[in-house]
Amino acid sequence: MKYILKAIFIAFVITSCLSQAAAEDTSTENIATDPRISLGLNAAEKAEFLSEMRQMLTSIQGILAGLGEKNPNLIAESARTSGNRMARATPDSVRQKLPQSFKDIGGPTHMMFEELAIRAETDDMDMLASFTSELMQQCLSCHAIFKTD
Ligand code: HEC
Repeated sequence: MKYILKAIFIAFVITSCLSQAAAEDTSTENIATDPRISLGLNAAEKAEFLSEMRQMLTSIQGILAGLGEKNPNLIAESARTSGNRMARATPDSVRQKLPQSFKDIGGPTHMMFEELAIRAETDDMDMLASFTSELMQQCLSCHAIFKTD
């Protein structure tokens, strides 16, 4: 009887050790599977940076609403808020930390918002929709490579 109890106890200890190890494995695996490059921003820089990002999402929402309503002014105004105006507003401390490979995607993205604002005056809605999709490829490319911390 004693032996059976001992055996059950040992089996229990081994099983809990194994499941503990498995749990630790997945957590380290999660970190290892996020290969994005860190921009190394501090808390304040990160807050500013992410607020610009949310503004870009707001622009995209306005552009889609404008496309749906066939309203070129709404498209242009929404695009402009994420154009050169935003590029100029990025604080120096953030700008200095951004690697060239980041700027190579970010710079043209703001330019594409400016281009969309100009195109809204002349292009058809389906052409503007295609261009917006092209613009959003920039969001995808950058998000695949970088993270803030
Ligand atoms: C040049 C790089 C770059 C471009 C271009 C870019 N982003 Fe981002 N974005 C980032 C990074 C880096 C993060 C932070 C990701 C992280 O830390 O996990 C981010 C985060 C975000 C977030 C999350 C904000 C939050 O509060 O957490 C949103 C929303 C976002 N981006 C929208 C967009 C949209 C929409 C576009 C395109 C119109 C875009 N971004 C283009 C780099 C970029």
